[in-house]
Amino acid sequence: MEIDERTVAYLRRFAEPEDEPLRAARARSEEADIPAVAGDTGAMLRFFASLMRARHICEVGTGGGYSGLWFLGGMDARGSLTTIEIDGEHQSLAQRAFGEARSGDRVRSMLGPALTVLPKLADGNYDIVFLDAVKAEYVEYLQHAKRLLRPGGLLLADNVLWHGRIVDNDVSDEDTDGIRDFNESVREDRTFRGTILTVGDGLFAAVYDPNG
Ligand SMILES: C[S@@+](CC[C@H](N)C(=O)[O-])C[C@H]1O[C@@H](n2cnc3c(N)ncnc32)[C@H](O)[C@@H]1O
Repeated sequence: MEIDERTVAYLRRFAEPEDEPLRAARARSEEADIPAVAGDTGAMLRFFASLMRARHICEVGTGGGYSGLWFLGGMDARGSLTTIEIDGEHQSLAQRAFGEARSGDRVRSMLGPALTVLPKLADGNYDIVFLDAVKAEYVEYLQHAKRLLRPGGLLLADNVLWHGRIVDNDVSDEDTDGIRDFNESVREDRTFRGTILTVGDGLFAAVYDPNG
């Protein structure tokens, strides 16, 4: 849907402002060249965490902690965020962000390649699995998500429109094709029921029903 500038300005009035830890995490992510989720996407992550009353969330791609802070703001106060990151400097930035939000004790931060760390996580334990690391690996993350999600859990994946490249037939590269494969795999998989939300760079949201 095309949205004109006046409507965008109107919608902005309804967007909740970032608190100080979020603002600082976003600024540090930008400085470190870490592509954090869009603010609208963050608000949607918090909305889903709150809607699901999430106790356990698994995030693939911690970055500087910006998306994690949104989740922590919406999930159950007794809940914990498990977040995976390959880069030690990014992990440190994120830990600083979680500390500033006084949420450090609710985060399990795991350092390493996602495909090595994911097999260590418990089956059927997660209310939400959020994908935001290597786009070419999304299809492999999907297989892990099916194991990790509880029935009725929610799969979320960012960047599924990949800045318009997904629909550009002239573009073919590892990341773009990886996201295309992922989008088709979720669409064809009867255990997921969902849609692509046109928020930020495209957010896939799908409910997992193992008996689907
Ligand atoms: C798009 S950023 C994550 C941004 C974060 N979700 C946010 O919105 O604030 C992707 C992150 O995935 C990390 N990453 C890259 N390859 C990875 C891998 N194989 N396993 C785990 N993390 C990886 C990058 O270092 C980077 O911090």
